[in-house]
Amino acid sequence: MSNKPKTATLTYDGKSYELPVHVGSEGEVGIDISCLRKDSGLITFDPGYANTGSCKSNITFVDGEKGILRYRGYPIEEIAEKSTFIETAMLLIFGELPTQAELTRFREMLSEHELLNEDLLHHFDGFPSNGDPMSILSAVVSALSCYHPDLLKIDGEDHMRLAVANLISKIRTIAAFSYRKSMGLPFMYPDPKLRYCVNFLHMMFSLPFKLYEPPLGAVRALSLFLILHADHEQNCSCSTVRMVGSTQTNLFASVSAGVSALWGPLHGGANSAVIRMLTLIRNEGIPVREYLERVKKREFRLMGFGHRIYKNFDPRAKLLKNAAHNLLLNLGRSDELLDLAQEMEEAALNDDYFVERSLYPNVDFYSGIILRALGVPVSMFPVMFSIGRLPGWIAHWYEDAQAGTRIHRPRQIYTGPQRRSYVPISQRK
Ligand code: ACO
Repeated sequence: MSNKPKTATLTYDGKSYELPVHVGSEGEVGIDISCLRKDSGLITFDPGYANTGSCKSNITFVDGEKGILRYRGYPIEEIAEKSTFIETAMLLIFGELPTQAELTRFREMLSEHELLNEDLLHHFDGFPSNGDPMSILSAVVSALSCYHPDLLKIDGEDHMRLAVANLISKIRTIAAFSYRKSMGLPFMYPDPKLRYCVNFLHMMFSLPFKLYEPPLGAVRALSLFLILHADHEQNCSCSTVRMVGSTQTNLFASVSAGVSALWGPLHGGANSAVIRMLTLIRNEGIPVREYLERVKKREFRLMGFGHRIYKNFDPRAKLLKNAAHNLLLNLGRSDELLDLAQEMEEAALNDDYFVERSLYPNVDFYSGIILRALGVPVSMFPVMFSIGRLPGWIAHWYEDAQAGTRIHRPRQIYTGPQRRSYVPISQRK
């Protein structure tokens, strides 16, 4: 077999261009067009970037046709069963599962950096009590840049570890405080004796005179929720973080942009949209079939269904569906919305419209059932997604920073007016 590197040939207007080809560790093939414009004057056109590889990455592998998701090579099913959120975060960001000593030290660092600067707390007073928690999260994460000037320019892995500990620990405090603010409740400060997930639940639900005790299964369910959201390669919010980071913007500001990208209903806002949809169907007694017919007439989308990458079951949806059942069992409760979601899933998966388009439940379809059972209000669902996705955003930002990536700057096909002369206001019609 020839060792000659593979190339692809592009022919346009009687001229041919040889384009290098890159092959990934799982056999994915990408045609390298990075010199295309220089060599030919041509650009490629790919709205929505569905066919564009924007980087090489060692972090997460997804095969959407086969329903495979792996973090740093480890199948998501194994990580979900055996790991914790913090261990998973370390794996994603630093590349390997931590040793016991590394994990213990990192947990200590999370406790050391869990408090927000007291001046930063005044920001919460400036937001209206009904302000969207995603807006607060994005703003306060960005504001961390002002309070940690020492972490704006990263110098080596130890320094990065400090920045990571600060951000992963503080995002949880910011998230919980935004909820307390919206409820008119006093802030519950983090407790350094508590581990990551319990500490978050404590800040969310403890009262000054009554400490919250998590019910059976709650901590594990939250940890699983966060693990399953921790990374998903070049999704919209991750690509946003990478794009902002490519200008050498600091980690806090880059992550703040990721929070904003995640906010939309087609991305991280979908988990709350699913619960709103199921609640509407239940409250108005709309038959599932009738609702699906309206989806097929394109009146609205079936939220929590479909994915740019998965054309098969999203493995995270399967794990979350089981976890929702287990949590409700542990709590000794049922949830009508879970029953309705399952009815909807079954009906959709037996309907030609959804089958032909390979539309399956995605990560957001069942995640809201878990959050509801934990007592998290719907307005906070995208915030929960953000806490989970943070390790992925950081890992991708760091990967780009280490590689010294060029500034991201796509091209366009201009379709506006050609050159014309300025019209004085008196002559305009
Ligand atoms: N309900 C009904 N029809 C759908 C849905 C849906 N949820 N999703 C896609 N389709 C249809 C489209 O109308 C289109 O049909 P057509 O070819 O006849 O026009 C076809 O399936 C392909 O859809 P696209 O919009 O091209 O798919 P794309 O990859 O651009 O969008 C997305 C993916 C945004 C996730 C889409 O499936 C969607 O809107 N889903 C609902 C929102 C949602 O659950 N978002 C969360 C995604 S996961 C995440 O971000 C964590």
